[in-house]
Amino acid sequence: MLGSNGMLEDMASRLTSPALIGRRAQLADLETAFAAVGRGEPATVLLGGEAGVGKSRLTAEFAGHVRAEGGRVLTGGCLELGAEGLPFAPFTAVLRELVREAGAPGVIELLGGRAGEAARLLPDLCTTEPEPGEPAGNGTDVYPGEGRGRLFEQMLTLLEQLSERGPVVLVIEDLHWADRSTRDLVFFLVSNQRALPGVLIIGTFRSDELHRTHPVRPLLAELSRLSWVQRAEVPRLTRGETGELLAAIAGQQQDPARVDSVFARSEGNPLFVEELLCCDDMLPESLRDLVLIRAQRLPEVTQNALRVASAAGERAGHALLSAVSRQGDDDVAQALRPAVEANVLVADTDGYAFRHALIREAMYEDLLPGERGRVHARYAEAIAADPSLAAGRAAIQLAHHWYAAHDLGNALASAWQAAAEANQVFAYAEQLAMLAKVSELWDKVPDAAQRIGTSHDRVLEKAGRVAHLLHEDEPSRAFTSAALREIDPKADPGRTASLLELRGKLRPETQDAVADLREALSLVADGQHERERASVLASLATRLLKSNATAEARAAALQALELAEQTGDLATQASALSTLAAVGHVDGPGISDVELDMLARARSLAIQADDYHLVLNASVSESHLLEGLGEHERAAQVARDGIAEAARYGLARTEGTFLAINVAEPLYALGRWDEAIEVIERALNLSAPPRTRACLQGLAGAIATARGELAKADSLLSSAVQLFSGLRGRAYSHVEDQLAADQLRLELFTAQGRHQEALALAQDSAHRHDLQASPRYGWPLLVAAARAVAEIAVTPAVARADGSADAAGELLGALDAEAGKLRPEGPVQRAHQLTYTAEVLRARYAPAEGPSGLTEQAAAWEQAAAAWEQAREPYPQAAALFRAAEAALVSGGNKDAAVTWLRRAAEISGDLGARPLVGAVALLARRAGIRTDGAATAQHVATSGLTPRERDVLRLIAAGMSNARIASELFISPKTASVHVSNIMSKLGAASRGEAAATAHKLRLLDPL
Ligand SMILES: Nc1ncnc2c1ncn2[C@@H]1O[C@H](COP(=O)(O)OP(=O)(O)O)[C@@H](O)[C@H]1O
Ligand SMILES: [Mg+2]
Repeated sequence: MLGSNGMLEDMASRLTSPALIGRRAQLADLETAFAAVGRGEPATVLLGGEAGVGKSRLTAEFAGHVRAEGGRVLTGGCLELGAEGLPFAPFTAVLRELVREAGAPGVIELLGGRAGEAARLLPDLCTTEPEPGEPAGNGTDVYPGEGRGRLFEQMLTLLEQLSERGPVVLVIEDLHWADRSTRDLVFFLVSNQRALPGVLIIGTFRSDELHRTHPVRPLLAELSRLSWVQRAEVPRLTRGETGELLAAIAGQQQDPARVDSVFARSEGNPLFVEELLCCDDMLPESLRDLVLIRAQRLPEVTQNALRVASAAGERAGHALLSAVSRQGDDDVAQALRPAVEANVLVADTDGYAFRHALIREAMYEDLLPGERGRVHARYAEAIAADPSLAAGRAAIQLAHHWYAAHDLGNALASAWQAAAEANQVFAYAEQLAMLAKVSELWDKVPDAAQRIGTSHDRVLEKAGRVAHLLHEDEPSRAFTSAALREIDPKADPGRTASLLELRGKLRPETQDAVADLREALSLVADGQHERERASVLASLATRLLKSNATAEARAAALQALELAEQTGDLATQASALSTLAAVGHVDGPGISDVELDMLARARSLAIQADDYHLVLNASVSESHLLEGLGEHERAAQVARDGIAEAARYGLARTEGTFLAINVAEPLYALGRWDEAIEVIERALNLSAPPRTRACLQGLAGAIATARGELAKADSLLSSAVQLFSGLRGRAYSHVEDQLAADQLRLELFTAQGRHQEALALAQDSAHRHDLQASPRYGWPLLVAAARAVAEIAVTPAVARADGSADAAGELLGALDAEAGKLRPEGPVQRAHQLTYTAEVLRARYAPAEGPSGLTEQAAAWEQAAAAWEQAREPYPQAAALFRAAEAALVSGGNKDAAVTWLRRAAEISGDLGARPLVGAVALLARRAGIRTDGAATAQHVATSGLTPRERDVLRLIAAGMSNARIASELFISPKTASVHVSNIMSKLGAASRGEAAATAHKLRLLDPL
């Protein structure tokens, strides 16, 4: 190749077209998608087409355009390697490309300063030796399962960081070969693409190879459900285009007869057109033969070398090929040179790739079966002798080659090793596949146990645990059961108990689960296995609590706690304490400091034990209970701390999203709606699970209703209801969710004046739900229902409509009966109860009662307002003040008090931006001739028109923080932070951040109000 390079390139280039033929529509689709991501919208294009039709060529052409416009293109291809594939291969390629470009330190900076899990994919990123005590692959994971989540988030961060510097296109080629880990990561990135503004994702795949059970089908189907994912087909060339392609390759127009003949035989597939052009005097029998024609014209030694190379996969390094062919580098190069000249192979600096996978596949099929096994054996021997030849993951390659060489003993040993390596890169699915292979080969390999130094039941146990990490309950149970059948419980009671515990946790029927757990307990009752016993007891307690056997759950949890304290097992203590707190709350006299205290302890123990799931659970429970008690600030703080913990584990965006609900809910209560919306939007931009999304949308809907954005509220609540009903029937359909959804819709209907629907929903809801199951969500529902009735009562046209008044009266009776049974717990529920009482007075008021009825109402509302003030919930406080003023003014009673109430209501509702309430207050004020605007104006001047949120941001600007820092400080996206910053600058008339800070100090904007 040396020396003659120029000439060779010339010759080679004549075998392919220098210009792209056709494809205008496909290019336009890609450009449109690219423009969309330029506007900050998510977009993914899935390009399907048969092999050789030009998917890669099209993508390369588009990549050229993007680069010319200053964008960045990252490309990674999936590799064909047995059925298991090479975990994360495309992402390893992308990382390698970035490292080549920016150096390891540059990439580490993009990853947020830590190579972390990404170093498992590309060891070049590793700056330090693994810490001593780092888990070996087939040992137990430190944070089971979480490494994978962290790796996924790191990839998200990496792309996000890159996209801040300019538009990015991520191309994942040949998805039909994607291993399961790659498929999961691709799905994760695409479904979280709203968090990746400026990143276009393109996936290519062979559409002709997707048979009915192909594993990539479900991925494509799931992706297609996302609104921003578009599928495009790359079709064969037309006759005209085939003519153009021929002319472009040959450098001159071809006569029509030749075009016809090539078109007929190639069927417009550009790869076949290229092949035919070299040798269109031949008449191949099939398309596969066609691909081989060019190779068959090469010297015999070259053909042999090509067949050997084809067993390596897409690409083979020089060193590996020489080792396998037992020849020197030069000899191999000499043998392959004609293949490069004929454009069958493409040479790069240290190896060769087939120009197209179809050519490789055809060469490989050309190997005789016996020969094929021998070639694979030579690869295996070469890699075994020098693992560095396999460029990275030697074990998985060995497993593949030994298996193809029918050397089952070595295949088993290397599959075991490959399982360990897969674990190191968090490719649990591949680890499971390799463990299954070990187990499958076990009986065919007489000395299996000696070869890998472990027993079959250990392999099964490992497989059961790995499947558990993957949430594959069914296989996990099957492997665990198989392991249990092989273990002698008497010889190994501790391990048997722990396996029974795992299976018990996985069994859907409570009875089976409890039976497993009790059996486990009986095995470790000897005083020798206290650690296992504590853990089993804690699992038993959790399970019993789920099936409402609270007394037993408490007893088991107490025992678990005591034992775990003795053995110093922090995680089990944390788990037992969480159960105890939940038992106390379900069973005991309401929530008290005792439960809160237990949860706080559980949380800190879980943090010490470094058990992420327990930390998360404890944060969720504690913030939820605090909010229920009306401790809004503390609740928000605990939930925020939980998100920070999640961030420490690198999981803020996935696992942390559930906690966003528990941050947003108290913020909503406190009237800090902008902040609540930011938290909600940030979480919704990530692919939170359906229930989380529904809860977040519900909260956003409540805020929209209060702000008078009724169309928005309507769409948010409809979507939430739809998501909730999708969950119905599942084990986790929560009655709280349904109560909250009904309440929010009732408020919306009332705001929209849809009185009949409100009435129907209230009747239905009161009938359907047992409010006592959740007083916390039951009270707000009662209030919303009573309000719906009151609105009907004060809207005569509606009240008179057929039967409405009667139905409303009946409903009120039913509500009263419920309210009578429901004990209010804590200040928030008490405030709801007082509001309910006031609404009922309003609903039952008949003008004939005269002023005394109204005075009573005013007093009831005043009490409710005071209770809301105490509970620190400004919105219902302002609404109650308004009603108090209304009743007082209409009754002609205490005008001074009414004026005070109304001014306060105006001030609060104005601050909140609760427009419908602002409007109602203003209308009442005008009717009564009261001026209300004074206070609000004064406030406005004092803050230069900045919202409370903007003042928060200003404070951070003044502290010298960048947008990115501000974003992470306030848990918002950098984009949102930058919007705040520019709003602040324009409101303050500042030209720079420094100037804004100076103005802030001068006007004392940052002083507490
Ligand atoms: N539209 C086109 N114009 C010119 N050459 C093309 C075109 N499409 C494909 N080719 C050529 O055909 C061959 C196969 O295309 P490729 O993109 O590798 O196919 P795929 O990725 O779909 O399997 C390549 O040599 C490529 O350069
Ligand atoms: Mg391709």
